[in-house]
Amino acid sequence: MAEEIIDLRHFRSRQLDPLWNEQAREWRRDLRWDYASTLTLVRQYVESRLLSGYVLTGNGREPLGYGFFIYDSGKGIIGDLYIRPEMRTEARSNRLLEAMLETLQSTPGLRRIEAQIMPYQPAELELVFRAAGFAAHRRKFMVQPLEAAPADSPVQGLAPWSGEAMDAAAQLIVEAYTGSVDAVINDHYRTRAGAVRFLHNLVRFPGCGFFDTGASWMAMGTDRLRGLILCSRVMPDVTHITQLCVWPGARRQGLGWQLLLQARVALCRSGCQAWSLTVSAENSAALRLYERFGFDTLREFDAYVWER
Ligand SMILES: CC(C)(COP(=O)(O)OP(=O)(O)OC[C@H]1O[C@@H](n2cnc3c(N)ncnc32)[C@H](O)[C@@H]1OP(=O)(O)O)[C@@H](O)C(=O)NCCC(=O)NCCS
Repeated sequence: MAEEIIDLRHFRSRQLDPLWNEQAREWRRDLRWDYASTLTLVRQYVESRLLSGYVLTGNGREPLGYGFFIYDSGKGIIGDLYIRPEMRTEARSNRLLEAMLETLQSTPGLRRIEAQIMPYQPAELELVFRAAGFAAHRRKFMVQPLEAAPADSPVQGLAPWSGEAMDAAAQLIVEAYTGSVDAVINDHYRTRAGAVRFLHNLVRFPGCGFFDTGASWMAMGTDRLRGLILCSRVMPDVTHITQLCVWPGARRQGLGWQLLLQARVALCRSGCQAWSLTVSAENSAALRLYERFGFDTLREFDAYVWER
């Protein structure tokens, strides 16, 4: 029986469980990331038949891989693409991806599509994305082990993250990323409403791990929020930096460094073993800061963007 591409909504979550179990194992091994919490959400959406996507099936409709996407006010976001390791070929990945892109690009009113599929190496999906008119932006996944981190002292003058700072944080994000490649990749960074949405997703939903209050800090100036670091736990002993930004008027004075330092002090005290982040290769200021701070690149991947 030939392999088929079937609408995800024809499947119950238990049919996809073996696939997801393998995926969670791979994320844990390769990225030190417990993807199971994200998959819990995905499972719920699949069960409610609320998720758009496709399953690639082999003999007897056995799922070999799957991909899903979401619609977010005029934008499509590719949420995942996964093929079981022993079945993983470029042709199978491309087939699933093509099916998703075809559906998204033929959706009336859809003006933009974003995709960041971290486990795929750069160039692996490039032919399909390029043929569909996407631009690629190289990103780096960086990690710093914390077992041997220096025993730094806490930084004075920073405040722990508070939900009351949500609006100020959104404003800071918009100003910090104006004109940057990250605002090209992620259009939530371009408007205050988008940045609030981005922050809500981080703080309230476990899509990117569980918000790590202890490792999230703010630099309050007399008149405005000057800097921010936000983190989420992606494993019981591993955290991911989901946001680091400094107001343009306060840069190159060591504030980014101090925010990293304060978060690291808190993480070491809580027994965290490692932390990670993603950064655009073009973002030389951030890359230099992370490298000096002791992060190493573990892998690279591409972020893809399409505008109608
Ligand atoms: C990246 C960003 C957070 C850096 O903030 P910053 O406050 O300017 O950073 P710092 O002043 O701490 O560091 C800047 C420089 O000082 C160095 N530095 C600062 N404190 C230091 C210290 N105590 N010891 C050694 N070096 C230090 C850094 O390595 C860096 O080197 P450079 O001067 O050659 O560029 C800021 O540019 C920003 O907000 N950019 C937009 C948002 C963004 O891109 N965020 C990262 C997304 S992944």
